[in-house]
Amino acid sequence: MKTINDRTIWWNYSVNCIEMIDQTILPLKLDTIKCLTVDSLINAIKSLSIRGAPALGAAGGYGMALSAFRHKGTDIEELRNTLISDSLTIKSSRPTAINLSWGVDRVLNKILDKEAIDEIRRDALNEAEKIAEEDIAINKMIGKNGAALLEDGDTILTHCNAGRLACVGWGTALGVVRSAVEMGKDIKVIACETRPLNQGGRLTTWELMKDGIDVRLITDSTAGMVMRKNMVDKVIVGADRITVDGVFNKIGTYTHAVLAKENNIPFYVAAPLSTFDKNKREEDVTIEERDADELRMINEGYIAPKDVKVFNPAFDFTPIRYIKAIITERGVFNTCKRCI
Ligand code: MRU
Repeated sequence: MKTINDRTIWWNYSVNCIEMIDQTILPLKLDTIKCLTVDSLINAIKSLSIRGAPALGAAGGYGMALSAFRHKGTDIEELRNTLISDSLTIKSSRPTAINLSWGVDRVLNKILDKEAIDEIRRDALNEAEKIAEEDIAINKMIGKNGAALLEDGDTILTHCNAGRLACVGWGTALGVVRSAVEMGKDIKVIACETRPLNQGGRLTTWELMKDGIDVRLITDSTAGMVMRKNMVDKVIVGADRITVDGVFNKIGTYTHAVLAKENNIPFYVAAPLSTFDKNKREEDVTIEERDADELRMINEGYIAPKDVKVFNPAFDFTPIRYIKAIITERGVFNTCKRCI
C-alpha cells in the first residue's frame, strides 16, 4: 500500500478512491484527503490540493479510474457516456497544464472500446498506475540529465514548486537539484516565494528542508537583485505546457527569464515529454485566471480594498529565446523544435 511518504497521489485500494497529500495545508500540516467522487477530485484540483503539471497528469489518469469505479448500473454504453462526460469536466478544471488532459486521454483511450464494466475498471486503474510509476522514473531521468549541467557549489534559483509535490515523486526542476546532490555536488537553492499562493514559500522550502538541501527563501521581487549581485549561477524552473515557441509556467517565470538573460545567467526548463504540445503556439493556449480574492485576502483577512479590480493569471509565457535548454527524460535540448 502506498503511503504519504512514497508519493504525492495514489490509489487507495481499501476504499477504491484517490488519496493525495493536501498541499493547501502544507507546511503547517502534512495530511491527506480522499477523493471518493469525480466532483471531489475536481474540487481538489481547483483548490490546488493537488497541483503541478505531472501530478495533475496522474490525477487525470486516476480520475478516469474513479469515474469507472463510481459508476452505478450495468449498461456499458451508459458507462462510456459517463466516462466521456467526466473526462471533459476533469480536463477543463485547470486549462493550462497539458498533463491533465494528457493523463485523462491516455486512460480514456485504453478503455473506451472494452466490452465489460469490470474490464474497463481494471484497465483504467492499470493505466493510471502506469502513469504514476512512469512519472517517478521519468523524473529520475530528467534529474540525471540535468544534474550533469550543475557544477559543484552552484546556487540555483527556482520559481513556484517543481519538486516531488508537483509530481508523483522526485520532481523536475527540483529533481535535477536532488540528483546533483545525490551525486555528491554541493548545491544551494534560492526559492522565490511565488505570490499569490506561495508554492515556493510553502512547498519548495518544505520539501528541500525535509531532504536536508540548503534552501533560502526570497520574495519574488528580490530575484533581480540576487541575480545582479552574482548570487545565482543557474535558474531552473518546471513547465505547465511547452509549445513550439516557448514555455508556459507559473506567473513570474517570464520575469525571471528576462532578468536571467540580462544578467548572463543560464535559464533552464526541466519537464517531461508529456508537457509538450507540439502543434500549438502561444496564442493557442488558455491561461487560467484565478479568483480575485487570492490577491485581495490573506487568511480570511483583506490586504487590499475589498472591491479593487484584480488581474490574477496563474501562468505566463516565456519565449524560447530566453531558454538556454530544456531538460527532458530523453536528453537536454537547446530549442523546443529539437525535442518535439
Ligand atoms: O498553479 P500550480 O501550482 O499548479 O503551478 C505549478 C507550476 O507552475 C509548476 O512550475 C509546473 O506545473 C511544473 S511542476 C513540475
